[in-house]
Amino acid sequence: MTTATAPAGIMGRLKAETAEQHAIAEAKPLEAALIGGSIAHDQYKDYLAQRWLIHRELEAATDRVLEEDRRLSGLGLPDLYQTANLEADLAHLGLDTAAIKPLKGSEDLIGTIRNAPSPAVLMGIYYVFEGSKNGARFIARSLGKAWGKTDLEGMKYLDPHGEAQRGLWMKFREDMNAIDWSAEEQDVMVKAAQDTFDAISALDDEIHAA
Ligand code: HEM
Repeated sequence: MTTATAPAGIMGRLKAETAEQHAIAEAKPLEAALIGGSIAHDQYKDYLAQRWLIHRELEAATDRVLEEDRRLSGLGLPDLYQTANLEADLAHLGLDTAAIKPLKGSEDLIGTIRNAPSPAVLMGIYYVFEGSKNGARFIARSLGKAWGKTDLEGMKYLDPHGEAQRGLWMKFREDMNAIDWSAEEQDVMVKAAQDTFDAISALDDEIHAA
């Protein structure tokens, strides 16, 4: 049932209806080690490597959807892509992308992305990764301090836009809200976002245990 305090727009729904999953994801030991600056270098590399596999797939799928659905063109999604940032980070850390093997959690997510049945489902998945840049900036700051770094080399994925992050997120929110998503599209988008949070939490546990 809708309540009097129900947030307006698809972005309000996405935030409110994934808040519980965000709290779970944020509290995972891997994320705690990232924000606490205590993650081991090898585990950090594993984290970036698995994220690279996912973003590569997500951004290829997004390119396909951009061809099909003109409503998404104003979002400027290619300027927000992360594959190149991940490749720069991995190169800086000396990890050859050809050697990266997907963990089960990544395989599952890649399959979901590849088989996303509609632009709305794909945007539900996309939302989770785009939104994660908000907290990732704090992680970059924390890790930078812990590792005594003075630049962002090896951490471009975590802080791709610097001071522009807030404004870009506000624009993403406005542009997503301005699209005439049908009620059914909104429902499948929210469900896809919830499932993506669950998938990321499972993957983060797998990376942490590896
Ligand atoms: C240490 C871990 C994390 C911290 C400290 C953190 C923190 C934050 C913060 C501070 C915001 C901004 C809230 C606002 O301005 O309204 C945010 C938003 C968000 N985060 Fe995280 N986060 C973490 C992990 C994650 C993970 C693992 C994901 C998913 C991959 C994620 C996805 C999101 C999303 C989708 C939003 C946007 C929520 C909205 O719709 O406004 N976060 N996070």
